[in-house]
Amino acid sequence: MRPRIVAGNWKMQGSQAFVLELLTALQSYDGWNDEVEAIVFPPFPYLLSTQDLLEKTPIAWGAQTLSEFSNGAYTGEVSASMLTDCGCEYVLVGHSERRQLFGESSAQVAAKFVAAKQAGLIPILCVGETLAEREADRTLSVVTEQLQAVLAQPGGIELFETAVIAYEPVWAIGTGLTATPAQAQSVHHEIRHLLAIQDSTIAQQCPILYGGSVKPSNATELFKESDIDGGLIGGAALKAEDFIAIYRGALA
Ligand code: PGA
Repeated sequence: MRPRIVAGNWKMQGSQAFVLELLTALQSYDGWNDEVEAIVFPPFPYLLSTQDLLEKTPIAWGAQTLSEFSNGAYTGEVSASMLTDCGCEYVLVGHSERRQLFGESSAQVAAKFVAAKQAGLIPILCVGETLAEREADRTLSVVTEQLQAVLAQPGGIELFETAVIAYEPVWAIGTGLTATPAQAQSVHHEIRHLLAIQDSTIAQQCPILYGGSVKPSNATELFKESDIDGGLIGGAALKAEDFIAIYRGALA
């Protein structure tokens, strides 16, 4: 069985008071279960307080991005080893907001993925097409290009032995529009197929999460699909009760 994961991407939101309130609420839930891994991705300044609050819970945490460089004169950047130093186990790589708003290319995303792996972090590689790309029937070619950039790195398919992929159609992020379970499943299936061409065991083991307006009301249907192994949740992860409800949807 592949690991199942429900992850909350808080994006650039919150404050110390907010982090304390949300994590205290998550801490007090007693239904976390080995069957589904819960992860939160707070902004950098809150990683240490997250570590303090979550250390003794089954909830893991990570950062929303990282530098591709290991250390040095890179003002404003945060390295993979700094993240492990703050107890991070995971890191998001190539979220569409990083690609679109901050110009991260697939090559740069691949370098970040490799930097994460080298430090022992588990990268969650985000891939997905824009609305224009979907309408032009380019979904698969876009997702393939994003994935191939990582597969082309030294290590190739073996880089995915301990890694996660998140399929997040850009048109579904923060818009309230969700891919239908069938639409998401068909892309997840293709992603798994792309991995399987190189190694069927790794393809079967690699969790593929869906992201894009996942809510308590649609999570269970999405997670029922055979190639959807959980979710990467934005807006709904900022409310403890919604995040927990989505988590329960993955247990079902
Ligand atoms: P959303 O964001 O759930 O608010 O659509 C998902 C994401 O960006 O990871």
